Amino acid sequence: MGKYEIIATAAMGMEALVAKEVRALGYDSKVENGKIMYSGDEYAIARSNLWLRTADRIKIKVGEFKAYTFDELFERTKALPWEEFLPEDAEFPVIGKSVKSKLFSVSDCQAIVKKAIVERMKKHYKRNSWFEENGALYRIEVALLKDVATITIDASGQGLHKRGYRAAQGEAPLKETMAAALVMLTNWHPDKPFYDPFCGSGTIPIEAALIGQNIAPGFNRDFVSEEWNWMPQKVWDDVRTEAEDLAKYDQELDIAGSDIDHRMVKMAQENAFEAGFGDLVKFKQMQVKDFTTTKEYGVIVGNPPYGERIGEKNAVEMMYREMGQVFRELDTWSIYILTSNEEFEQFYGRPATKKRKLYNGSIKTDLYQYWGKRPPRNKELEN
Ligand SMILES: C[S@@+](CC[C@H](N)C(=O)[O-])C[C@H]1O[C@@H](n2cnc3c(N)ncnc32)[C@H](O)[C@@H]1O
Repeated sequence: MGKYEIIATAAMGMEALVAKEVRALGYDSKVENGKIMYSGDEYAIARSNLWLRTADRIKIKVGEFKAYTFDELFERTKALPWEEFLPEDAEFPVIGKSVKSKLFSVSDCQAIVKKAIVERMKKHYKRNSWFEENGALYRIEVALLKDVATITIDASGQGLHKRGYRAAQGEAPLKETMAAALVMLTNWHPDKPFYDPFCGSGTIPIEAALIGQNIAPGFNRDFVSEEWNWMPQKVWDDVRTEAEDLAKYDQELDIAGSDIDHRMVKMAQENAFEAGFGDLVKFKQMQVKDFTTTKEYGVIVGNPPYGERIGEKNAVEMMYREMGQVFRELDTWSIYILTSNEEFEQFYGRPATKKRKLYNGSIKTDLYQYWGKRPPRNKELEN
């Protein structure tokens, strides 16, 4: 087995969650600027892709160095052991980004990195002609930050939020990685009721079900590194078998969602079916103000409209008020609402137990948390 420097990338504000997940997989990591860095073998690469619920992608770091000039970028890229990563037929496009660096022309940096790799590979594979690049994809990135170039290969392919179950989506769907993060930030356990009153395309309830049954979020998709010649098929077979063994398909769940829009409900049902939860996660059409329950100690996670669109503000604020009144009755439930509306607590009618800043894409939001009463001791023991 080889040893690789692995980077799990994380959206702003999600680093601690990704680091926690990486630790749970058994790897010690370092966190820096949206990157969770750790070392591991081929199994670590496969497991990270398959299991990390809140990371954006998995990358392999090939090298990192200071580069103030194009010459330095070229020479230091050429000095890296590319032949250990790229076979002769590799397809290796180069993408790039540059932040606060002397080398700010991204297209030039990409071209130079490409040229340096080609040069190195020509020498190693003893070729004078161009490479056909008709084999597996190794997407390379040169990322400059304060004159430090980090060169990586993407091991995921499509971003990890693409779980493979979301065929249909509404207007403002939450990324699956973010939905998983919301569930993981609650005190929910699979034996408690879980409810999303603004379910849209169903992302939050579906992610809760995946977590509840300990199903690997990537079980339903493939990864670009499955095609790599140095990632043996046995590794992928082993980690998929392991994931199958770890899944708790018998875990009973009480997960449901509703939405004011019946088209959304249909979409959520289709997506849940795609994820394998057709019978397990229940969806219905309903307005949040009609929510009632006789159940206790449940968890509500909701991503309501934020009221940012013109003409929507008043209606949304009114709906926040109604929500506050309805949820006031649920003193054993814990309630988590994600919104960018900074006056949410006023409309809802109560200050949150705790607020956590999160970015929903580029929108700065807060997760307003209202913790419910704890179960009495004997109930806690039963749970
Ligand atoms: C931001 S979207 C939720 C997106 C969802 N998390 C997803 O991943 O697809 C907000 C949803 O709230 C629904 N909604 C708006 N007002 C509502 C109300 N009063 N009661 C229930 N649902 C409402 C909208 O139809 C919309 O689907």
